[in-house]
Amino acid sequence: MLSKKMEKALNDQIRIEAESSQVYLSMASWAEVKGLEGISLFMYKHSDEERLHMLKLIKYVNERGGKSTISALKEPKAVFDSFQKMFEDLYDHEVFVSKSINELVHVALEEKDYATHNFLQWYVAEQIEEEALARTILDKINLIGNDKGGLYLFDRDVQQITVESAAAGAQQ
Ligand code: FEO
Repeated sequence: MLSKKMEKALNDQIRIEAESSQVYLSMASWAEVKGLEGISLFMYKHSDEERLHMLKLIKYVNERGGKSTISALKEPKAVFDSFQKMFEDLYDHEVFVSKSINELVHVALEEKDYATHNFLQWYVAEQIEEEALARTILDKINLIGNDKGGLYLFDRDVQQITVESAAAGAQQ
């Protein structure tokens, strides 16, 4: 059985994951309208993943005798100054989510809720990957700058940028 404090903290995270899904959906739509199909598909996929992160939390809260809250969401940013800016936002957003997951882990320890602590380890590992991926993409987009040809190639290849290639890049 979840404590009230743990339940509230998990419900806050449900909202954050739902808002993350909206943030990336908005980026996907903006990129699609701008004609960058690869980046758009990448963002649509990322948005779907965030929805799965949210669903996993909803199921967990309900399974543990709590009640998950499906709340209103903050409207995401709809327009970006540039692709560089958009990927900066993505990286910053993932850093924010990591902090929030760390806070949740802290609450689980405070509440001596070791089942939730164990459940949250999946999110801890996921955030390491998501931050690494966001960092790799941001590094690449910063190299490209305003070069249109570079952006075209990046749009073609962005689907291939995975966590594994991010890790390989970090080792070089
Ligand atoms: Fe569910 Fe990208 O954090």
